[in-house]
Amino acid sequence: ARPTPSPDPAEAERLAVGGLFQPFSPVYQEDPARSFYVEAHARAPVAYSPQFFAYLVTSHADVMHVLRDPALFSSARLLEPVVPFAPELLARLQKGTFPLPPGLFNNDPPSHTRARLLFSKAFTPTRVAAMEPQIRRFASELAAELAAGPPELELMRDFTFKLPMKVIAALVGVPYEDMPQLKAWQDDWFRLYDPTVDEAGKLAAADGFVAYQRYYAELIGKRRAQPADDLISALLRAREGEDSLTTEEMISHLVVLLFAGYETSASLMGSLLFALLGEPELWRRVGEDAALLQAATEETLRMHASVQMEPRHTTRATSISGVEIPAGATVMTFFGAANYDAHVFPDPLRFDLNRPNGARHLGFGWGIHSCLGASLARLEVRVGMQALRAALPDLRLAEGARRSYLPSLFFRTPAAVPAVRG
Ligand code: HEM
Repeated sequence: ARPTPSPDPAEAERLAVGGLFQPFSPVYQEDPARSFYVEAHARAPVAYSPQFFAYLVTSHADVMHVLRDPALFSSARLLEPVVPFAPELLARLQKGTFPLPPGLFNNDPPSHTRARLLFSKAFTPTRVAAMEPQIRRFASELAAELAAGPPELELMRDFTFKLPMKVIAALVGVPYEDMPQLKAWQDDWFRLYDPTVDEAGKLAAADGFVAYQRYYAELIGKRRAQPADDLISALLRAREGEDSLTTEEMISHLVVLLFAGYETSASLMGSLLFALLGEPELWRRVGEDAALLQAATEETLRMHASVQMEPRHTTRATSISGVEIPAGATVMTFFGAANYDAHVFPDPLRFDLNRPNGARHLGFGWGIHSCLGASLARLEVRVGMQALRAALPDLRLAEGARRSYLPSLFFRTPAAVPAVRG
């Protein structure tokens, strides 16, 4: 049957622009800004995607409007399955705790306020700053291995994924050797929500997710008996009056931390390396100029935010920039698109290291859910790039290397950064 043309031209435009949101198409992956964001800003800042049943909010002002009002635009349903889990799958999951208590991402005030307060007592700026020498050691060791190895490198595989994995392990207090298993269990967790995985695959994934929880429950038990200088021990100590975190709440935080802080940091380093190595002069200068490295990092966060969007759900009917939105609707909040809004970032397609408004990018989100790990991420990136630059001053992109990104709905992760030294 032919689709019936919409009688309302504005509505038709919203649908047409919403149709440009094709996160799994190669054109979109290569450049979401040119294939969707710029069009959305010009034609329909609040578009609608019938494919994803979602309102797509893209202007800087509208994204801020959504982030400013968590009572209206809720995060509580973020980890709810779109299709309810089958009874057999649910029974498997309930061998562990399912659902896990709401953590940080998937929570609203007042529960979120309490969770963030308690979490912040453990994950403090002092704890992050104290990690700098350790991060420098990890980064220098990795860079030295690269300097001693073959001249052809793939920096996502050889560096950007390795560094945050080491950092998260050290932060949380997990033996580094266990990290591949934890990552596999995290992938199991995501498989539960993946419509392309069959029932047998989901049952196996449920066992993985339960094993993941047991792993952390055991580790928490060990730290309770014998505290160490790590985040788990600090979470166990965190108090607000009489209040403290339960073991299940801690597990909830820990499983989120791995995915929140691992791929995101690797992605940022990968995108930044494309920018720095793309211009030999820039690579040379960032060795001596920390401010320049910082400007390049922030501009990369603007143009290639690792987290391009997060969904919110309306708790009542509302309107955004004149577009009516019913209660219970999914509102995709595009940090990535807001970062290309010419009202805030003139000439947004240009990589500009002197932007007066550069700090207003939403690469780390904004508001009550803004990234708790932003200072750790910035530290890792700075120290990581400095170590690479020191060990490999003549690093450059491989002949013909061009930016390409992995297919993903929410994330922007370079598929590979092929490079050569010497
Ligand atoms: C939240 C991005 C690294 C922990 C967020 C949000 C964004 C983001 C956009 C907001 C999500 C929303 O509003 O729904 C990034 C990027 C990173 C990074 C681009 C790296 C370059 C990290 C690291 C950690 C971390 C290293 C911790 C070790 C968190 C947590 C939240 C969060 C716990 C949830 C806060 C809340 O809901 O209250 N991050 N992140 N992130 N991030 Fe990050």
